[in-house]
Amino acid sequence: MTLNISFSEETQLFHLTNGDISYIIEIVHNTYLAHRYWGKALRDYGKHNQVPMYKKTFAASPYANRPEFSLEFLPMEFPQSYQGDFKNPAIRVTRNMTIDQIRLKYHSHKIINGLPRIPELPQARESSEDLARTLIISMIDDIAKVKVDLYYSIFENSNAIIRSSKITNHGSAILSVEQLASASIDCYYQGQNVTTMHGSHQKEFQLDSHKIHHGQFKTGTSRGASGPQHVPFIALSENNSETSGEVHALTLIYSGNHTELVERDQYNQIRLQIGLNSDHFSWTLEKNQSFYSPQAVLVYSSIGFNGMSQIFHDFATNHIVPPHFRNGTAPILINSWEMSYFDVNEQKMDSLVNKACELGFEAVILDDGWFLGRNNSKTSLGDWLIDKRKFPNDLHHIINKAHLLGLKFGIWFEPEMVSPDSQLLNKHPDWIMKSKWYEPLLGRNQYVLDLAQIEVQDFLISTLSNFIHNYKIDYIKWDMNRHITEPFSQINTLQHPKAYSHQYMLGLYKVINQLTSKFPNVLFENCSSGGGRFDFGMLYYFPQTWASDNTDGLDRQEIQYGASYLFHPYQMTGHVSVTPNHQTQRQTPLTTRQNLASSTNMGYELDILDLETCDTILVKEHIDQYKHDRKLISSSNFYRLSSPFNSNLTAWLFESKNKSEYILTVFRNRFHVNEHHHIIKIPYLNPDADYIFEKNSAVISGTELIYSGIHLQFEKKDWDSIILHFSKT
Ligand code: DGJ
Repeated sequence: MTLNISFSEETQLFHLTNGDISYIIEIVHNTYLAHRYWGKALRDYGKHNQVPMYKKTFAASPYANRPEFSLEFLPMEFPQSYQGDFKNPAIRVTRNMTIDQIRLKYHSHKIINGLPRIPELPQARESSEDLARTLIISMIDDIAKVKVDLYYSIFENSNAIIRSSKITNHGSAILSVEQLASASIDCYYQGQNVTTMHGSHQKEFQLDSHKIHHGQFKTGTSRGASGPQHVPFIALSENNSETSGEVHALTLIYSGNHTELVERDQYNQIRLQIGLNSDHFSWTLEKNQSFYSPQAVLVYSSIGFNGMSQIFHDFATNHIVPPHFRNGTAPILINSWEMSYFDVNEQKMDSLVNKACELGFEAVILDDGWFLGRNNSKTSLGDWLIDKRKFPNDLHHIINKAHLLGLKFGIWFEPEMVSPDSQLLNKHPDWIMKSKWYEPLLGRNQYVLDLAQIEVQDFLISTLSNFIHNYKIDYIKWDMNRHITEPFSQINTLQHPKAYSHQYMLGLYKVINQLTSKFPNVLFENCSSGGGRFDFGMLYYFPQTWASDNTDGLDRQEIQYGASYLFHPYQMTGHVSVTPNHQTQRQTPLTTRQNLASSTNMGYELDILDLETCDTILVKEHIDQYKHDRKLISSSNFYRLSSPFNSNLTAWLFESKNKSEYILTVFRNRFHVNEHHHIIKIPYLNPDADYIFEKNSAVISGTELIYSGIHLQFEKKDWDSIILHFSKT
């Protein structure tokens, strides 16, 4: 079977399939959209999973003569309030600020080749290697004069489905959209677990999993940025396994406030939803205006969480990240932050450039501290003028030198922010977010610029464009170090106050879209004190994200492991830092920190000029090895083998796309005197193949590696690690 979206007049069924997965929707009574199936591909669907409806006390029916028919029992595709379905709706609107009832009915549909265009938002990209088809179902309420279009895209080579919704006001009443889910799916509870991710600064991407209770379980954020407290991700899994069982997972192509919800009702029906956070959202539509929800990515795996992650990884690579940054193109960099913090200057950077060149680095990044008066986090954001006391010859001298030595040059910016004592704020006090009545809160000593204002957007676009152009910048680290406490604009031409957070995101997307389009070869790295805004929305513009400010040899294992649920390791940057670690004071061996950073898009962030803390021979060897492995790592299939969350061994595997080359990385954390064996099994190999290990030329059969496993000999010390290269014979 190939990619196909069919509709049968006779059965009233839409069947979206690519031969691997199926998604089935039924039009019931020419009115309701019922969710019938999402999972492994079905050759055909005869409605045999449908549960007959019985008349039940408390259930309400839209038909006087059919009391047994109630939306309480119908698995809905896009549920609405006040129609007998008492679970969380997918849509809520008010008309002329009062009536909040709506009854959308199926109206029509069309099937198109390719993907829809969603204005102003990041979205799945077309790819010539992975064709897509899209079903658009229109629902209309003739009384309210409201139309909702539901979009479903399915791909030839990816088991992801994209869903989104569009609402249009065709009436003359002012329509206020209070909620518009990107995706809502109803299914039955069969013991599934719900998995979400939580975290904090320096402890991002922690995994949370539990049985689904009756009632609602909701995660999400109102911080104006996607994470790290609650990542836009929710998954139902059959048995919480990495290698087996069904997983139905959702994420959003969006970087602002979001909600994930699972609800289990009295009949053990489950509703799964993802979308904008409706508690902090409202959007006003006048006649003929439309609003688009962000897109949701729906991933189905029949082989557990590893299978789910493979689909997310390949989908993001092929359909989200800017195509020319897909595989292995990022330079190996040295970043000045943990080496010097704010104390950067020309002399240090000069020596850093020389040393970086000698050791084989490919880029030097000047982090925070380079602009006028920026000696701590209290000052100067927004002014972006070179501090001539630190750089008497401007930056041209260092940048030219780096370029002459064949190094790329990158620089840190935090464009969305402004310091209280800056010239920018002095000149434009109305450019920050603030309510009319109260003083705004400081976060990391700074205010947030009001990116919903066109003047602010233009200022950022021109300031960064001029800087990139004048200084021939190759890389920008785009940071965002506080969340939004007062989502209010000081200018009153903007929408409803609850629309603001989304308007901010549209402003941000506009700015980064223009900059990345204008400078397609400049590599923008996403950062929000690490992984504070790491999502598919940012990935659409910025191909890599600084995953965490925590570079500790143990904590980072968890962070990278958790983040790999959604993101391929090459979409995360990881740096080798000094020991004892600045965040935890833990001491871990250099090789372990190197092996951990090598499992990502790798760089360094320690003082390579200090010979006491930096063994330059080992650093050079490591860089050479990474250059050798980079192609494989960046374009690999990535498999998690052993979890740091519940074992003393963290293990993962990189596999070349043609399944011939492998890198196995294993960390044994605490040394225990009674430890005896450390067996690693690699269930993802081909049982019929043999594999040769580079280190000792041992040839081991696929079956032995899969079922019996190999013992790894660690040293008698904490935080040891091993990397093994092997290939198919
Ligand atoms: C937070 C980032 O995550 C760090 O890497 C560094 O760039 C600092 N901000 C600079 O202020």
